[in-house]
Amino acid sequence: MPKIKIAENAFTYPMPMVIAGTIRDNRPNFMAVGWVTRVNFKPPMIGIALGKSHYTNKGIHESKAFSVNIPGMDLLEKTDYAGLVSGSKMDKSMLFTVMTGESTGTPMIRECKINMECRLVQVVDLPTNELFIGEIINAFVDEDCLTDGRPDIKKIEPFTLTMPDNHYWSIGKESGRAWGIGSKLIGKK
Ligand SMILES: Cc1cc2nc3c(=O)[nH]c(=O)nc-3n(C[C@H](O)[C@H](O)[C@H](O)COP(=O)(O)O)c2cc1C
Repeated sequence: MPKIKIAENAFTYPMPMVIAGTIRDNRPNFMAVGWVTRVNFKPPMIGIALGKSHYTNKGIHESKAFSVNIPGMDLLEKTDYAGLVSGSKMDKSMLFTVMTGESTGTPMIRECKINMECRLVQVVDLPTNELFIGEIINAFVDEDCLTDGRPDIKKIEPFTLTMPDNHYWSIGKESGRAWGIGSKLIGKK
C-alpha cells in the first residue's frame, strides 16, 4: 500500500472528550476539551492542553485548581456548546449542576459520570497552548456506572473526538484483553 505524505499534525485517533471546570470571576466555567491525557502514575496526574486565549486559563492560574469531567452520550450537545461559546461572552455556570470540590472548591459536573478534582501542579508554556498539569486529589463515579467496583465503559458511554474532520464517535465493542492478548507472541519471532 503506498503511503501518502499529508500535512503534519498530531494525529491522536481518537481523543477522549472531557469537560474542564474551574472558577473564573467568582463563578464556575466549563469548556470542552479533547486534548487530555494521563501524565503521571503516582501521584495520579492529568494534563489538559488549552489554547492561550481561552477564558478558562486565567481561572486555573488564579484558583490553582480545575476539574476534569467525563460526559456520557446524553451530554453530547451540552459538551459541544461548552466548546462553542466562551465564558468571556456567556455565563456557562448554569449549564450543569455544580458539585464543589471539597479540597479546592473547584466546580465539577454532577451530570457527568466521572469527576476528577485536580490541584494545579505545573503549567507548561508552549507556543500556542498551555499544558495544565493537575494532581487528582479526589475522584468520583456514578454508582450505577460501576461493575465489580470498577468504572464500566459500557455504562459510562463516553464519546471520542477526531480532528481535523471534527466528529464525535461513540465507543465500539471490546476487542481483547490489554496486557494479555499479545502474550501468545512472546518467544515467537
Ligand atoms: C469538541 C471540542 C474539543 C475542544 N477541545 C479543546 C482543547 O482540547 N483545548 C482547547 O484549548 N480548546 C478546545 N476546544 C475549544 C474550547 O472548548 C472553546 O474555545 C471554549 O469556548 C473555551 O471556553 P472558555 O473561553 O469559556 O474557556 C474544544 C472545542 C470543541 C467543540
